[in-house]
Amino acid sequence: MNVIEWIQTKRDGGELTESAIRQLMAGYTDGRIPDYQMAAWAMAVHFAGLSARETAQLTLAMRDSGERVDLSAIPGIKADKHSTGGVGDTASLIVLPLVVAAGVPMAKMAGRGLGHTGGTIDKLEAIPGISTALTVEDLVAQVRRVGLAVAAQTDALVPADKKFYALRELTGTVDIPAFIASSIMSKKLAGGADVIMLDVKTGDGALLPERAQARALAQTMVHIGHQAGIRTAAIISDMSQPLGPAIGNALEVAEAIRVLKGGGSDRLRTFCLELGASLLTLANAAADLDEGRAILQKCLEDGRGLSLFGRFVSAQGGDAAIIADPSRLPTAPVQWPVTAMADGVVQAVRTRRLGEVSVRLGAGRLTRKARVDPAVGLRVTKRIGDAVVHGETLAVIHAQKESQAQAVEADVRVAFVLGEAATPRPLIYERIPRALGASKG
Ligand code: URA
Ligand code: CA
Repeated sequence: MNVIEWIQTKRDGGELTESAIRQLMAGYTDGRIPDYQMAAWAMAVHFAGLSARETAQLTLAMRDSGERVDLSAIPGIKADKHSTGGVGDTASLIVLPLVVAAGVPMAKMAGRGLGHTGGTIDKLEAIPGISTALTVEDLVAQVRRVGLAVAAQTDALVPADKKFYALRELTGTVDIPAFIASSIMSKKLAGGADVIMLDVKTGDGALLPERAQARALAQTMVHIGHQAGIRTAAIISDMSQPLGPAIGNALEVAEAIRVLKGGGSDRLRTFCLELGASLLTLANAAADLDEGRAILQKCLEDGRGLSLFGRFVSAQGGDAAIIADPSRLPTAPVQWPVTAMADGVVQAVRTRRLGEVSVRLGAGRLTRKARVDPAVGLRVTKRIGDAVVHGETLAVIHAQKESQAQAVEADVRVAFVLGEAATPRPLIYERIPRALGASKG
């Protein structure tokens, strides 16, 4: 191993061979390569970048660093989805049961929230009794039985990413597109699905706010998927305002139940039908997006999505009575409306700031080990383009104490930028590859 040479090659803008990339990742994961050398290499990559080939090879080296899930015993095309994360992104809780109800089994390895973005595992854990600590065997058995399982990332899967991501967080090398792409895709590929649908967010509340960055990340991840022989597609979707009205774990579970019952936020429901239709198309369960939407609409209307959600919650040990009676979910004692100080139209929502406020209330975490409070968060009542009059409610803070609500009230208020008029935001900006968006006739 010549780690110094690999660092220098990158520093000077050269490319590493596949063998060097594999040795680097393996050596780092098993401790032969120390943090300081890996950190130097990561910083060199920040300046010099990785080629598409290097990025794909890094991803596969990480995928192969631990156990891999084998879903081949389950009949049919198995799907997975991933969102790069956002604020009020309740979509997984809705899309997963709907798509499974439409006949596509899903095994999802999910993460916890970090920083201003929420995570599916934290949201699910707001359900009393639920366990997301599934072994690989549990996961496979449950997908076979119920069609759907969601497991927290275990130490056995992709240990290289676990160790390298932690190092990146401490060395200013998280926001490097090739690293984000390889980190996400190594975990998705180890998850064993036949098709992977990626939702790359763009806008103020996204991991990568600029559209060009989001597009590059989506293209890189789709390319990696194809290199690994897995059918992969991406959408680039809007995170310039919270996707749904709820931000916070139990609040988002309650919103998901509302949508699965046919109510809830129109914007969130529409988005879930779009993302779900993309999944069905990718998994050959629909001929095109129009057919996919129609199938999912039916699963919403006849309650199959809701009933699948119930079976999934029970299978993972959760209290499925929350579906008939969402008041069984944890609730915050203080519900504190934040009102507008002027008339106007909502022009922009400082989405990242709303995510940060929810963290301060306890709904999210700044460090990996921190605990979250399932009950707290925000309900956003105004969106971009909505007219607001002085005194009207912009959002409701759900907090444990009045003093905590008061402490964030001004931040919530200024997150709603009022003006004369607003430019409406689409839900989805583009699809990669573009052919996935083509419809019949
Ligand atoms: N999410 C991941 O899983 N990895 C990254 O590097 C960034 C976001
Ligand atoms: Ca969230």
